[in-house]
Amino acid sequence: MLAGKRILLIIGGGIAAYKVLELIRRLRDAGAAVTPVMTRAAAEFVTPLSVAALAGEKVRTELFDLGDEAEMGHIQLSRVADLIVVAPATADLMAKMAQGRADDLASTLLLATDTRVLIAPAMNLRMWEHPATGRNRAQLAADGVATVGPNAGAMACGEFGPGRMAEPEEILGAITAALGAGPLAGRHVLVTSGPTHEPIDPVRYIANRSSGAQGTAIAAALRDLGASVTFVTGPASVPPPGGVTVVRVETAREMAAAVQAALPADAAVFAAAVADWRVANAADRKMKKDGKGTAPALEFAENPDILATVARMDAGRPRLVIGFAAETDDVLAHATAKRARKGCDWIVANDVSPGTGIMGGQENAVTLVTAEGAEDWPRLPKAEVAARLAARIADALA
Ligand code: CTP
Repeated sequence: MLAGKRILLIIGGGIAAYKVLELIRRLRDAGAAVTPVMTRAAAEFVTPLSVAALAGEKVRTELFDLGDEAEMGHIQLSRVADLIVVAPATADLMAKMAQGRADDLASTLLLATDTRVLIAPAMNLRMWEHPATGRNRAQLAADGVATVGPNAGAMACGEFGPGRMAEPEEILGAITAALGAGPLAGRHVLVTSGPTHEPIDPVRYIANRSSGAQGTAIAAALRDLGASVTFVTGPASVPPPGGVTVVRVETAREMAAAVQAALPADAAVFAAAVADWRVANAADRKMKKDGKGTAPALEFAENPDILATVARMDAGRPRLVIGFAAETDDVLAHATAKRARKGCDWIVANDVSPGTGIMGGQENAVTLVTAEGAEDWPRLPKAEVAARLAARIADALA
């Protein structure tokens, strides 16, 4: 997918540098050539020998190296690349980039280039959250530098929070997208995900058990194929993927409005578990016990069907509209009927009976229902279901 592309990979000095070895391997597998540059600090974390062996090219570290200058000038090095990737982008490297300093090979290359730059920040969470890093991030964004990650999670320093470098496959996806190289390059795909919360009063709500895991994985897989993704998400328990446009909503009606605002799209995937009803008599103050033991009576009103509304649009309908069917029995029959009732092109059906462990779990077993019939997919990790679905979407839009 990246055949003929050359990546100038600048490796910063952080513990996450070890993940860059895997990134290099993946880039090579995808057909890209990798020119590695390491800061002095990076060589404390991974050896130049490992980097050179995986990249299949010598590692450059020094600003003043007569041998290198005779072969290819430093400035030239940064200009023959299709993309410059900085991973891990440490707080120090980001500060240098934001200020335009050039006191070593890595920072000089970054200043001397007009090639696009993608950074994968990695640092302690307090460093990430420090106002100085915040200023540098804003400056880099204003300078047109693209960013992937960091993710929240357990960190090597023992703390927990944002600061962990994005995983190699996420960085690869961001590289593919930045190069406009995947089969979905130039396509806009809308994905809904997560549950919705329907308020009862200002502190209580009705919700469902959707974690948002499958929708998040689908958005990431579409991004990895080069799509520009708008991700409209209810209050999910898994964080949204990097490298997509995230629109956070709470209720079904907010989700419906956000979906309309995100159109037009080439394809739309409705993975959200939208509440079918909202509380029609929601209180605007916290409901209190009346002291007599009477329970309040909730009245319900039907929510707009977001999928059916988009699937039945006369003008501006996405070319491919995909719905989900979460069923506990007669999965195929219900899914086939749902496809016809909602007017969508495909239904991704799954059995969410408690015994399957699918809702909130790591795996999914789906049946894809199209106009041509039904296909049972094997039980797979949600990321693999997402990758398969994204590949099918790419085929359908080709
Ligand atoms: N959906 C939607 N808006 C709604 C309800 C559902 O966009 N208000 C979408 C979901 O995102 C999913 C599909 O419709 O893609 C199936 O939703 P589901 O709730 O399972 O279907 P229902 O129409 O509620 O059918 P049933 O009552 O048989 O479950």
